[in-house]
Amino acid sequence: MAELIDGKKISLLIKDEVKDHVSKLKEEGKEKALAVILVGEDPASQVYVRNKKAGCEYVGIRSESYELPEDTSEEEILSLIDRLNADDKINGILVQLPLPKHIDEDKVLLRIDPKKDVDGFHPVNVGNLSIGTPGFISCTPNGIIQLLKKSGINAEGKHCVIIGRSNIVGKPMANLMLRENATVTICHSKTVNLKEICKTADILIVAIGRAKMVDASYVKPGAVVIDVGMDRDENGKLCGDVDFESVKDVAGYITPVPGGVGPMTIAMLLYNTSGGDYDL
Ligand code: GUN
Repeated sequence: MAELIDGKKISLLIKDEVKDHVSKLKEEGKEKALAVILVGEDPASQVYVRNKKAGCEYVGIRSESYELPEDTSEEEILSLIDRLNADDKINGILVQLPLPKHIDEDKVLLRIDPKKDVDGFHPVNVGNLSIGTPGFISCTPNGIIQLLKKSGINAEGKHCVIIGRSNIVGKPMANLMLRENATVTICHSKTVNLKEICKTADILIVAIGRAKMVDASYVKPGAVVIDVGMDRDENGKLCGDVDFESVKDVAGYITPVPGGVGPMTIAMLLYNTSGGDYDL
């Protein structure tokens, strides 16, 4: 049986480190505050936003939330961002994705001041990550780096295979693993011989959004398997992109769903909002 990577436990460790950092800043008279913008009533987004606000409260970051109706215009969102960019009391701005279809997501993300872009989605921060200069790093992939580090897994020289090429996970994940000196392969829906490539991975990171797609036949014995999926199985139960029951007997390490990568995203958002400029 693989060793379980406990994201709940590791995220709590990080949240406590952030809490200490925030309280030291408070002693110096510096308060941190996050503005969260949610447009529409997507139930999953509502849960994420609620958890982000609760996380802020836990670590001592003030949060302001802007919950706007589905028919809010692009112009209204852009002018709210302009106002928050200019507000000295706000140091982090987060627009929950996805946005309603009539709104241009890229245009909205581009409007956020990169210095307040705690999601790390602005092209300036994406560029910083890609060339290795300081900036905010996307929370889910950075959370995966912390899962590896706090589990004592060294990626240097290892073959890391990432399935998924999204801007939020796959692409920043590849840059972060390069920074850890791993050899990186990115696979996606058009990849030929996916299974054979995955079987060569020392570290397999799965972010495809298809319930239980990766079973033991994709996994090299002893590999580290990180499951970024948040799917529903045939009975409507929460599960990942990895078939946990099948893979757990082959892998060396595995993250569960829930309780693996999920809790890390919020922990890293809180880290970014607290400055994101100190070692964890
Ligand atoms: N939607 C899904 N994941 C994320 C995330 O990490 N940040 C934001 N803002 N929206 C998301």
